[in-house]
Amino acid sequence: MYTLGIETSCDETGVAIVDRRGHVLSDVIQSQIAIHAPYGGVVPELASRDHLLNIRPVFEQAMAESGLQLSDIDGIAVTCRPGLSGALLVGLQFAKGLAWALNKPLVGVDHLVGHLLAANLTYPGQTDAAPPELPFLALLVSGGHTALYRVDEPNLASMHELGATRDDAAGEAFDKVAKLLGLGYPGGPVVDRLAHEGDPNVIALTRPMPRSDLLEFSFSGIKTQVMRWVNDNGLPGNDATLRNLCAAFQHRVVESLVQKTMIAASREGLSTVVVGGGVAANRGLRERLQRECGAKRLRLVVPHLRACTDNAAMIAYAGSLRLALGQNDGLGVEMSPHSALLSVTKKGRGPRDKHPDKSRDKPRTKS
Ligand code: KG4
Ligand code: ZN
Repeated sequence: MYTLGIETSCDETGVAIVDRRGHVLSDVIQSQIAIHAPYGGVVPELASRDHLLNIRPVFEQAMAESGLQLSDIDGIAVTCRPGLSGALLVGLQFAKGLAWALNKPLVGVDHLVGHLLAANLTYPGQTDAAPPELPFLALLVSGGHTALYRVDEPNLASMHELGATRDDAAGEAFDKVAKLLGLGYPGGPVVDRLAHEGDPNVIALTRPMPRSDLLEFSFSGIKTQVMRWVNDNGLPGNDATLRNLCAAFQHRVVESLVQKTMIAASREGLSTVVVGGGVAANRGLRERLQRECGAKRLRLVVPHLRACTDNAAMIAYAGSLRLALGQNDGLGVEMSPHSALLSVTKKGRGPRDKHPDKSRDKPRTKS
C-alpha cells in the first residue's frame, strides 16, 4: 500500500510517498526560507503564493523519484491543520483535485500527529530500527509548539497532552535569540552549531520554569535574559563570546526540555521516549536526552534528521494508518488553523487552543 502525502502548512512545500511500514520512497521539500528570511519570520501571503508555484513541480518530482505510476498510489494524505490558512488551502485543494481525478481515498492529517509519528519513518539507506513501542512519551519541540504527550495508540484520540509551553515554543525562542544576535532566520541550526563550539558555563543564565511539579515550559524569559545580557554587554561579534552566549542559552533550553521529559516519563510509568519537531534536530538536545534516558534505562527513539523538520513523509505515514483502517474523509475534508490534538486531548478540560494562529498580525515562526 502506497500513500502520497502533501504538506503546505507553513513555509515548506512537501510531497512524499511512503509504504505501509513507513519506508520512504520519495520525500521532496521545497523550502521558502530565502523568501521569508529578510522579514525574520514567515509572511503568510508570500507563503501561499509560493506554495501555489511549487506544489505541482514538487509533486511531479516526488512521483518521478518514487519510481511509481499514479495508478500505484492507494490513497492521499494531506495536512489539514494547524498552520497558516492560505498555505494549508493550497495543499488541501491540490490533494482534493488529485483524489477526485484518481478516485482514491483522501484523509486529512493533523501536522502535530505527523511530528509525533515521524520516528516511525525509515529513509533509503537507513537500517530498519524497531519503531517505538506503545505507549510512549513524546516530546514535541517545533517552531510553533512545545509539549509533552502520552501516546497510547498512533491516532489523534489516543494522544494526551501532559503539559505545554505557556508562551514561546522552543524553536521560536531559538529563532528570536538568533534574530537578536543578528544570526538570520531560522535560528535553530546556526545557534546549535555555535553552541557546540562554545562553553555553556561562562555566561550565567537561569533555567526556565525549573519547578519539578509542573510539566509546563516557558521560554520567553530566557529570551529576555539574553536580551538583557546584550543590553548590558553589547552585541557580541563573531567570536568566543557569541559562541559562549549561544551555548549558555541552548544549555538552559535543553536542560528544561530534558528535565520535564524525564519527570513525565517517570510519572506516567513509560519506558520509551520519542522526540519530534524541528528542535529534535538539535545536537545538544539529542545528546542530553541520550545520556539521561541511558542513565534511567529508558529507550530513546529519535527520528532521522530529515524527519525532524517539516516534511510530507510524516504526513503520508500518519495518513496511511488511517487509510489502512478504511477511513476516508472524502472531498469534504476541511482546513483549520488550530490543532485538533491540542483542543480535544486535555483530559477533563474541554476545548481550548493556547496557540491561536498568529499569522494575521505579523510575520510568524512555524506551526
Ligand atoms: O518542525 P519545524 O520544521 O516546523 C514547525 O512545525 O514549527 O520546526 C522548525 C523550528 C524552527 O524554529 C527552527 O529554528 C528549529 O525548528 N530548528 C532547530 C534546529 N533545526 C531546526 N532548533 C534548534 N536546533 C536545531 N538544530
Ligand atoms: Zn512542524
